[in-house]
Amino acid sequence: TRVLSVTSECVPLVKTGGLADVAGALPGALAAHGVDMRTLLPGYRAVLAAQPDAAPVFDIHDFFGGSAQIRRGHLGDTVLYILDAPHLYDRDGSLYTGPGGYDWADNPQRFAALSLAAAMIAAHGIESWTPEVLHLHDWQAGLTPVYLRELGAAERVKTLMTIHNIAFQGCCSADLIDTLGLPRPGFSPGGYEYWGQISALKAGIIGATKVSTVSPTYAAELMTGEYGMGMEGVLAARGSDFVGILNGIDEEVWSPSYKTPKGKAKFKTALRDELGLPNSGPASEGPLCVVISRLTGQKGFDLLLEALPTLLEQGGQLALLGSGDSAFESAFRDAALRHAGVAVRIGYDEAFARRLIEGGDAILVPSRFEPCGLTQMYGLRFGTLPLVSLTGGLADTVINANAAALAQGVATGIQFHPVTALALTQALNRLCALYRKPDVWTKMMDNAMAQPVGWDSSAGTYADLFETMTGAAHPK
Ligand code: ADP
Ligand code: GLC
Repeated sequence: TRVLSVTSECVPLVKTGGLADVAGALPGALAAHGVDMRTLLPGYRAVLAAQPDAAPVFDIHDFFGGSAQIRRGHLGDTVLYILDAPHLYDRDGSLYTGPGGYDWADNPQRFAALSLAAAMIAAHGIESWTPEVLHLHDWQAGLTPVYLRELGAAERVKTLMTIHNIAFQGCCSADLIDTLGLPRPGFSPGGYEYWGQISALKAGIIGATKVSTVSPTYAAELMTGEYGMGMEGVLAARGSDFVGILNGIDEEVWSPSYKTPKGKAKFKTALRDELGLPNSGPASEGPLCVVISRLTGQKGFDLLLEALPTLLEQGGQLALLGSGDSAFESAFRDAALRHAGVAVRIGYDEAFARRLIEGGDAILVPSRFEPCGLTQMYGLRFGTLPLVSLTGGLADTVINANAAALAQGVATGIQFHPVTALALTQALNRLCALYRKPDVWTKMMDNAMAQPVGWDSSAGTYADLFETMTGAAHPK
């Protein structure tokens, strides 16, 4: 099956979160299942700088206030199409926000452009290659089904809308309907209208052939008022066309240099030395807990600030790497100043993230909601036991150390519920208690390191889904 993946970020070129990892890993994982997946990415400055030889293969005139070219680049063996539209993407700042930290005012146009370019590739083909399926990631690609219909290609080319995070819905003023080239009749409750605004995500949910999200539990949660953020009704209405497919991680990148729990010790010592955390004495007798995360309300770290004393009292330590809301950043900086057992680095640092996973005993992910989550899976692979809230992909990837799982010898981590400071405190108590039983802890590390967390199984699921979708298009 020929599939064009339409994404606003992709490793190793541009990343703000897990979407980039997933978009970067899927083409390779799917190749093994006979899927020919190419990627379409906006030509941000960093992308063009990293792909200086990308030659133009498709011209687009009069494109949201300028002209554009699609260039052909590559990521390893994967063909990368770069939407080079300098008036939209060639600027300082980050992918979605300007230097002041605010969303770019023309984000609606910037990602409508990505969506329209995808539909044009589907309608006209590119370099004699025509996708049979467009794989649309998040709201940034959500308008694609609308444009595909406008270009008359919606029957021939199928679409899969994948939701990585329902919190981002791509809403903008209805005044932009004409600017974005959207059909007026679609601006209705059964179309891309959402409470008087345009919603790119809703357009995708309603218009795509199939809809998916990144874990089975999050799929179920999204159909409830508590988690659906207003989209629960339209999602439930898609019935069996809405599915959850669990993310994997890149097992080659996230591959420990040690094969048994014992191998962690020297990395742990090195990590503590690097951070100035005690390596001996009562303040080192508990588990070394690590965090690698965006620091936003979603991730629940306000609860960790409250629960922290419980960990420290039992000789546990915390090493945190993250960035995000300035209130969280300064609260954690303060905690590091007050407690010898806490080390905090504000920023984004992939090499350090790896040293945390390698050296930590446990990784904490107390999210209020988590569509999938990747760092708990990094943790599993390295025997860094995940302590997670019972939600979304965290529910689907960790086997909670309850009495039954311990008796069966299958536990790989700890889950807690509800997502409150009290429940997190109790979970940290359980973590410390397990850590005091080295044989139980080592068994859990063994289990965790043996748990499959790669793409193999889910890549097969995607491949089957794409095949079903195109099978409907071309009866055999
Ligand atoms: P989300 O996409 O919601 O941020 P995920 O767990 O799916 O959450 O993905 C986050 C990705 O970003 C992971 O690969 C994680 O290692 C990485 N990451 C997050 N914060 C940092 C940071 N400060 N430094 C390095 N990597 C980070
Ligand atoms: C989103 C979610 C995260 C998920 C990632 C990749 O950023 O917040 O849970 O792992 O997308 O699908």
